[in-house]
Order: sequence, then C-alpha cells, then structure tokens
Amino acid sequence: MKVFITGGTGMLGSTLAKKLISKGHNVAITYREHKPFFEVRGYETDIRDKNLGNIIKSESPDWIIHTAAVTDVDLCEKDKELAKSVNVDGTKNVVEACEKTCSHLVHVSTTFVFDGSKKVYTEEDSVKAMNYYAQTKIDAENIVKRSKLKKWTIVRPDQTYCWHPFQKNFVTSALAKFDKAEPFKVFNDWFNQPTFADDLAEIIIALLEKGETGIFNTAGSTYIDRFAWAQMIADVFKKDKKLLSPSNSSGVNLPAKRPNVHVDLSKIEKIIGIKPIGVREGMQIMKQQKEGGAY
Ligand SMILES: NC(=O)c1ccc[n+]([C@@H]2O[C@H](COP(=O)([O-])OP(=O)(O)OC[C@H]3O[C@@H](n4cnc5c(N)ncnc54)[C@H](OP(=O)(O)O)[C@@H]3O)[C@@H](O)[C@H]2O)c1
Repeated sequence: MKVFITGGTGMLGSTLAKKLISKGHNVAITYREHKPFFEVRGYETDIRDKNLGNIIKSESPDWIIHTAAVTDVDLCEKDKELAKSVNVDGTKNVVEACEKTCSHLVHVSTTFVFDGSKKVYTEEDSVKAMNYYAQTKIDAENIVKRSKLKKWTIVRPDQTYCWHPFQKNFVTSALAKFDKAEPFKVFNDWFNQPTFADDLAEIIIALLEKGETGIFNTAGSTYIDRFAWAQMIADVFKKDKKLLSPSNSSGVNLPAKRPNVHVDLSKIEKIIGIKPIGVREGMQIMKQQKEGGAY
C-alpha cells in the first residue's frame, strides 16, 4: 500500500513508518523541525501549510496516518493559538486533502478527550476536556467525524513510550534520572495507561489492513500511577529503586490539569483480536531491543 504519515519523525510516526517499510509498504512522511533519521521519502512541511494538499495529491496514498500534533499539554495551555492552529486547523488541512484523494484516514487522538470523572470509559461515552490540549483533540476528532471522508478511524492512546533518538517520554526520562544517581520524586496521583508505540503501530496497521473504521480506545492494558510505573521501570531495567520517592501533584502549579482516565479495551480486542500489551511487557521489549543493539 501507499502510506502517507504526518509527524513521521515523532515517536509514533517514526515507529509506524519503520514498521510499514519493513512490511514492504511504500511510505512517505512529513517532518518539520526534526529530519528523518531512517531511510524514507520525506517532505519538510508544516501541516498548516496549504501546500500539504498538493503533496498529498501527488502521493495519492491509500492510507493516511495523521500523528502530527503539539503534544506538550502545558505548552498547549500556555499557547492556545499555537495549539489550535496545529491540532485543529492542521487536522482540517489534512482531512480536506484526504477527502480529495479518497484515502483511508487514521487520526491519532488521545484518552484525554475524557475528563476522568467516570470509572472506566468505552468508545460510546461522551467526551469532555479538562485542559486545552484535550479540547483541541476533541475539536480535531469532530472535524474527522463530520468530514466527507468515506473511511476514517480514530485511535485514542495514552502516555506513549518507546526508544527514540530525540523525543523524551516517561520511561526514557526516568532512565536518565536513574543514571544520574540522584534522588527524584514522582507523582502518585497521576494515573495512566502507558501505550507502547511499537504495539500501537501494530494495532493501527491491523485496523488499516482490515479496513476497520470508527473510534477505538487503544491505550495500554495497565492502569497505573506514575510512582508505581517508575518503580516498575527500576525493576525491569535494574535501577536503584531507593532513588525514588512518591509525591502529590496538588503542591505543584502546572499550567494544565491532567485527568486520570481509564479506558475499556474490549472493542479493539474484539475487532482485531489483539489486546494492547501491559506496561511491564512493553518495557521488557524495550530492554531486549536495547540489549539486541537496535537502539
Ligand atoms: N506522546 C503521548 O504521550 C501521547 C499520548 C496520547 C496521544 N498522543 C497523540 O499521538 C500523536 C503522536 O504523538 P507522538 O507521541 O508521536 O508525539 P511526538 O513524538 O511529539 O510527535 C509529534 C509530531 O508532530 C510533529 N509536529 C508538531 N507540530 C507540527 C506542525 N505544525 N506541522 C507538522 N508537524 C508537526 C512533530 O514534528 P517536529 O518534531 O519535527 O516538529 C512530531 O514529529 C499525537 O497526535 C498526539 O496528540 C500522544
């Protein structure tokens, strides 16, 4: 298949691109600040640029996977204009181009579309934003849902982790702190379903191969607080757990509020027969990847 990925040098975009190339697909990506660090056909462009439509038309892809976004939730709270222009207007630009090429669009959203007031969320539940990043992702989902696209799929992951040459995530940041051998604090009141980018990439590819459309919760299967996650990182990567101490986010004044969202994964498991993996398993794969010299 011909596949076009926005944000192709980000965590999810690069993981997807490498997997699709290794499976024999014809892949093109967009990148902006960060140039490709693997062999791929790349277009240096901002997703807000109208020329994106010409690029997508010239590629005429079967599948478009839209991963590009401003992902820093505190930055989105501080610079709402930037967040809206990239996450909402940029998505509109991608969708309009996709309508013309009749490609199957996968739009990458987030579990943060929920505010965490319910115990467990299914795909049928109503969305409600707790911060501005979440609002932009809800608005972007609505653009996709109300578009003229014949085939669209929305996936909702949570805290993504994987090896990456320059993007940090909770696992790689914690490993860097352990390696400094200085004590550090981790919130025990922020809960996530950590999502292994390699696993999410397989799930997105399976959805596209089966031509599945609609909305899917695609977060990892472990619901865990950050402190417990950091302890598990120490376990898996054989780091000194004594460096860790728990703390509470109430004493810290961050720009964006974080919801604790727990999503139900039965729909994705039923439709493609794959249950997203748990965080210990994902990190064990990361460890093997490092030992095998892949990163
Ligand atoms: N990271 C998470 O924990 C998480 C959790 C839930 C959902 N998501 C969603 O998952 C998707 C993929 O995120 P990720 O985890 O792969 O994060 P990431 O590594 O930060 O990737 C985001 C990508 O977006 C690109 N980008 C940002 N602004 C752009 C613009 N104006 N024009 C073109 N490209 C732009 C970045 O390119 P440059 O670096 O070159 O600027 C980067 O490649 C996003 O839609 C995000 O909202 C992420």
